[in-house]
Amino acid sequence: MKTSRRDFLIGTSTVAGSTLVVPFSALAAQQKAPKKAAKKKEEAEEDVSTNEDLMREHGVLNRVLLIYDEAMRRIQAKEKFDPAVLTKSAGIIKSFIEDYHEKLEEDHIFPRFEQSGSKLTELTVNLRAQHAVGRKLTEKIAATAKSGETQALNSALAAFNRMYRPHEAREDTVLFPALHSVVSKHEYDAMGEEFERIERKTFGGDGFDMAVDQVTELEKQFDIYDISKFTPDTV
Ligand SMILES: [Fe+2]
Ligand SMILES: [Fe+2]
Repeated sequence: MKTSRRDFLIGTSTVAGSTLVVPFSALAAQQKAPKKAAKKKEEAEEDVSTNEDLMREHGVLNRVLLIYDEAMRRIQAKEKFDPAVLTKSAGIIKSFIEDYHEKLEEDHIFPRFEQSGSKLTELTVNLRAQHAVGRKLTEKIAATAKSGETQALNSALAAFNRMYRPHEAREDTVLFPALHSVVSKHEYDAMGEEFERIERKTFGGDGFDMAVDQVTELEKQFDIYDISKFTPDTV
């Protein structure tokens, strides 16, 4: 797994601190390596374009939908499961999708279409409405997972997955590709850099890496991490 930005920063500050007693030339040589590594890391992050950034965040959302699918399967099969996996999954949706990803869409993506009079404005109106409903469903999922109201939890999970699959698919295939027609290349590139800055400010590091680590842990707890489990035995 790649080193998170936070681990990376801790690592570089330790190196800098340990150089206080060495001659300046050695210090410069020693500092050159981490600086070079930092530059390389910066460049790698800057390479993530606006749409790639948003679409890989949808990948995190999708992985939570898989956890929700498995929870519904277990409810219907009357199999036991740890409700904390669902409250934590709802927590990832709230912090990473609703309060970050959807806020980026609402503040930076949708207005570009709405202000340019694009025919996709009708779509953004619906997408905004779905974000609002999604927030209510997430609250319901967290509350019913905690209280043990299994049928209400099942209904909220089903409604969430039914709405979000078309929601993200429409953004990925229609809205995001059309972004190139409403912003210049320069503005598109600047948006990617702005998103990166907001991500670092919001999460104190690489929020995407952190969210992937968290969802991976929950998949392991729910025993759906092994991707071969999704391959059918017979075709
Ligand atoms: Fe959205
Ligand atoms: Fe989205």
